[in-house]
Amino acid sequence: MARSSGDRQVRENLKSQAPASVVLRTNAEPHVLFGAEISFTADVLDTLERLQIPVAAGILTVPPQWSLRGIPAIFNLEETPEHFGQLACVLCAAGPKSRRALHKQAADLGFSRFPAIVDPTAIIPASVYLERGTFINAGAVFGSAVELDEFAMVNRAAAIGHHAVLEPYAVVGPGAVLASGVRAGAGAMIGAGAVVLPSVNIGQDALVGAGAVVPRDVGAGQTVMGNPARPTSKNAETGDTSM
Ligand SMILES: CC(C)(COP(=O)(O)OP(=O)(O)OC[C@H]1O[C@@H](n2cnc3c(N)ncnc32)[C@H](O)[C@@H]1OP(=O)(O)O)[C@@H](O)C(=O)NCCC(=O)NCCS
Repeated sequence: MARSSGDRQVRENLKSQAPASVVLRTNAEPHVLFGAEISFTADVLDTLERLQIPVAAGILTVPPQWSLRGIPAIFNLEETPEHFGQLACVLCAAGPKSRRALHKQAADLGFSRFPAIVDPTAIIPASVYLERGTFINAGAVFGSAVELDEFAMVNRAAAIGHHAVLEPYAVVGPGAVLASGVRAGAGAMIGAGAVVLPSVNIGQDALVGAGAVVPRDVGAGQTVMGNPARPTSKNAETGDTSM
């Protein structure tokens, strides 16, 4: 994983959090929400509010079923003002496939700045490495030296053991537990409340069902569920929800 200048910035941001439980990023620059049609947007808005990060606009393709809390909405991607490409952009998706798709759409529209967003209620040691576009939701707890590659995401109250690695777009669902040294391949999805035992490798684009207990490696593209987790016959898409 290439270390970028973003690395230094994220570390500085993280250091500025300790030891307070609430980060006040006053004077934070406005961010654009991308894919605000996805219901996970409400969680993203909560986190940005807690960080006191203003939102310039939400970009979406259909009217949402929830409140955008008064932020301006742009319904047609082609109507996105050109200068928006210079603004910081946050993806509103909680699954690997939708995160990958939104990233591509945003990049095609000219967005290139995707800051790492860390909810101030999460506990993140300074040794944690966060690439661009990563998102850590409320109440997540990280051990030492965890690495999140670009656009990876950890959802509410998940626990990530020390030296775990999430490759690009990998997602850990709400309340899941990754023991130390777990590696989640690019695009892998760990379902809500699943437990992955120490040093287990979850293959690229694999899907671990909600509540599964995973004692051994999972192959690329495989779906597993249950305790102990066993492969299912089909490769379900259901991990890519917006829980
Ligand atoms: C494992 C999973 C991928 C299976 O999806 P699916 O193939 O569409 O499964 P179905 O809903 O058709 O269910 C098939 C069978 O598996 C069972 N099943 C489904 N999910 C299960 C799970 N997580 N653990 C144990 N059994 C499960 C169903 O009860 C059903 O059993 P039956 O055939 O005896 O009735 C999905 O249920 C899941 O857990 N996805 C993760 C969702 C999640 O945590 N998202 C977080 C997003 S932030």
